[in-house]
Amino acid sequence: MPERGTAPALSGRTVIVSGASSGIGLATARALSRHGARVHGLSRRGGDGPFNPHICDVTQPEDVTRTIDQIAAGAGLDAVVLAAGTNLADRHLGQLSTGGWQTLIDTNLSGAFHVFRAALPHLRRSRGDAVFISSVSALWPDASGPAYQASKAGLTAFARAAALEEHRNGVRVSVISPGLVDTPLLDRRPQPPEPAQRAAALHPDDVARVCIFMLSLPAHAYIPELTILPAAIQALGDT
Ligand SMILES: NC(=O)c1ccc[n+]([C@@H]2O[C@H](COP(=O)([O-])OP(=O)(O)OC[C@H]3O[C@@H](n4cnc5c(N)ncnc54)[C@H](OP(=O)(O)O)[C@@H]3O)[C@@H](O)[C@H]2O)c1
Repeated sequence: MPERGTAPALSGRTVIVSGASSGIGLATARALSRHGARVHGLSRRGGDGPFNPHICDVTQPEDVTRTIDQIAAGAGLDAVVLAAGTNLADRHLGQLSTGGWQTLIDTNLSGAFHVFRAALPHLRRSRGDAVFISSVSALWPDASGPAYQASKAGLTAFARAAALEEHRNGVRVSVISPGLVDTPLLDRRPQPPEPAQRAAALHPDDVARVCIFMLSLPAHAYIPELTILPAAIQALGDT
C-alpha cells in the first residue's frame, strides 16, 4: 500500500518561536533552522543563533503584532511555536505577591494569547500550525507554584479552545506538556535541583524533537496534545 499523505518539508517554511533566547525555545529554533526552516525568534534578550532574533516582549501586544506582521510581510508565516514563559522564586502562597501573580499570568498566559492572535491571520492564509509549550503543571499539582500552574492550565485550556475554533479555518493547534526539562528556568526554583536531578531531566532538544515531529505531520494527521516526561523522574511519580 502506498504511503498516505506527504509530510510537509520544513525546509523553506517560515516559523516564529517565542522564547527563543533560552532553553526549549532556543533548542526548537536551532532544530528548525537545521531542518531548513526560516526561523524568527522572539524574546526580550534577542541573542544570536542560526536564526533571526527579534527583541520583543510578549506582554506588549502592540510590539508583538508589529513584529509578527513585519516578519510575515516577507514570506508569510507557516507556523508559530509559543515557548516564552517564566516562573518566580517566591512562588508559594506564603510569599506570592500580587505583582508576582500578574507577571506569570501576563507572560505565560496573556503573552501566548498576544502572539497567537497576531499570528492567526497569517496562519489562516498558509493553513499553518501553532504549537503551545504548556507543562505537566497544567495537568496535575506539583511544586511549581499556584500562579504558574494556573497560568499553564489556562494556556492549555486556551489552546484547546483555539484548536476547536481554528481547525475549520485550516489552522492546526497542538499542545506539548513537558515534565522537568533542564533549562535556566530551574534556577528560579526556591531550591534549584541538584546536578543528579538535572541530569535525569529531559533535555531541551527532546522537546524540540517532538515539536519538529508535530510540525512535520501531513495535514490529514493531528496530535492535539502530547505529554513528554523524564523517564527516571515524573514517569515514576516523582514530581
Ligand atoms: N524547564 C522546564 O522544566 C519546563 C517544563 C515544562 C514547561 N516549560 C515551559 O517551557 C517554556 C520555555 O521554558 P524554558 O524551561 O526553556 O525556560 P527558559 O530557559 O528560562 O526560557 C524562557 C524563554 O522565555 C522568554 N521570555 C520570558 N519572558 C518573556 C517575555 N515577557 N517576552 C518574551 N520572551 C520572554 C525568555 O527570553 P527573555 O528572557 O530573553 O525574554 C526565554 O527565551 C516555558 O513556557 C515554560 O513554562 C518548562
